[in-house]
Amino acid sequence: MNQDELKAAVGRAALAYVPAGAVIGVGTGSTVNHFIDALASHGVALSGAVSSSLQSTQRLLAHGIRVLQPGELEGRLPVYIDGADEIDPRGCMIKGGGAALTREKIVADLAERFVCIADVSKQVPVLGRYPLPVEVIEMAAPQVARRFAALGGDARLRMGVVTDNGHPILDVHGLHIEDPPALETEVNQWPGVVTVGIFARHRARVCLLGTPAGVRTLDF
Ligand code: 5RP
Repeated sequence: MNQDELKAAVGRAALAYVPAGAVIGVGTGSTVNHFIDALASHGVALSGAVSSSLQSTQRLLAHGIRVLQPGELEGRLPVYIDGADEIDPRGCMIKGGGAALTREKIVADLAERFVCIADVSKQVPVLGRYPLPVEVIEMAAPQVARRFAALGGDARLRMGVVTDNGHPILDVHGLHIEDPPALETEVNQWPGVVTVGIFARHRARVCLLGTPAGVRTLDF
């Protein structure tokens, strides 16, 4: 199986985590695109979805799935389903490769549990091989980059990319993130940081991992 087939397999497997008639949270990316398509092709009855990006909103609407704003919810979402760029043995993740990290964290925060869908290439012992995305206020980018340099990171502006919220992204190379909750907390204190792409506080509770031998379920 190639990587796209592994992504499609976990997208289908995630249907088992969708309560009938619920409003769910939907992430962003190529794996989530497979999940959205599977919702439609399997005729899953949903009341609607809260979307983490304009890209996912368009795909949900194209399939006739209602998209709600967080303010329209009466309670919490039962589940948030999204991909990841890396996932560690505790379910902590790096996200934001698709530049949707801020809205992804907002929607994840509304959900009872995060179900991560990923192909096996995303599983790592320690986060940091994938450059850490950080959405920033543009004028703060140089000073945020300097703070990462003091930690041994090389922050590079993602060229030609502006998020759905109108901000640039720094991709930080060379980090070895042994303590994801601590680094997430630290970077959250820095002026000008909108969102850091470490999902430790909002880590996955379940990961459906696509492997050539089939979909493995990891519980955290
Ligand atoms: C977008 C994300 C995605 O979940 C992440 O980049 C994984 O994407 P893909 O499913 O395309 O591999 O965080 O901001």
